[in-house]
Amino acid sequence: MEREIHNIVILTGAGISAESGVATFRGPDGLWEGHRVEDVATPEAFERDPVLVQKFYDERRAKLKTVHPNPAHQALAKLDAAWGGDLLLVTQNVDDLHDRAGSKRLLHMHGELNSAWCLNCDARSGVSHPLSHHPACPHCKQPALRPDIVWFGEMPYQMERIELALAQCDLFVSIGTSGAVYPAAGFVQSARHYGAQTLEMNLDPSEGSLYFHESRMGKAGELVPVWVEEMLK
Ligand code: APR
Repeated sequence: MEREIHNIVILTGAGISAESGVATFRGPDGLWEGHRVEDVATPEAFERDPVLVQKFYDERRAKLKTVHPNPAHQALAKLDAAWGGDLLLVTQNVDDLHDRAGSKRLLHMHGELNSAWCLNCDARSGVSHPLSHHPACPHCKQPALRPDIVWFGEMPYQMERIELALAQCDLFVSIGTSGAVYPAAGFVQSARHYGAQTLEMNLDPSEGSLYFHESRMGKAGELVPVWVEEMLK
């Protein structure tokens, strides 16, 4: 017998923001088609060529002003507001579309474009000027800000909280992620290990597709609102 669903963990990736006009990473028009990961998304790249790296993220941050949450982000915010049990939305996305849609129980495991991290005093702050212009940290006044983005080779944020939520969830849902990047790609196996049901919604089967009890293939903007209505029935 399927266990009743009280606690939900939802993982989202670049695919949920694709219909809003934010580029995904892999695939023909993906961000990694135009750039080598090692040139822009590693601590070594930042040490070697900070201006190139800052400009890459400045451009992506500027692009956020031109895009809007789509029905998938909105449906997840509606679920968050209405769901009585535990719910944790873990996003790999560094855009702010879940925040703008109104999701509250939200965690950005790969950081956020709108946040800067000071390498001098360790404080986090909002970004008001392009970081390639070397603005001063509002806390220590040193021009030592880097994008608050988790790069390859760095530890994603709040892993303990995520692992706990995975161990306690009855349903794990993955939306719009290729399943190519760990540790997020392994969440489905963790959740299953603890007995959760697992559902994937993606344009095409992800790399970990075989680990899901159910896979729904299609656009997030169409699939997610339907699923949320099912959950709230
Ligand atoms: N609806 C649903 N899924 C979609 C849509 C859509 N409209 N458009 C694309 N997709 C799917 C693609 O088929 C692909 O499987 O979304 C997935 C996006 O995969 P990636 O580009 O690999 O993005 P993601 O899984 O989020 O990448 C993980 O890799 O480089 C890093 O740190 C970066 O957080 C990112 C991580």
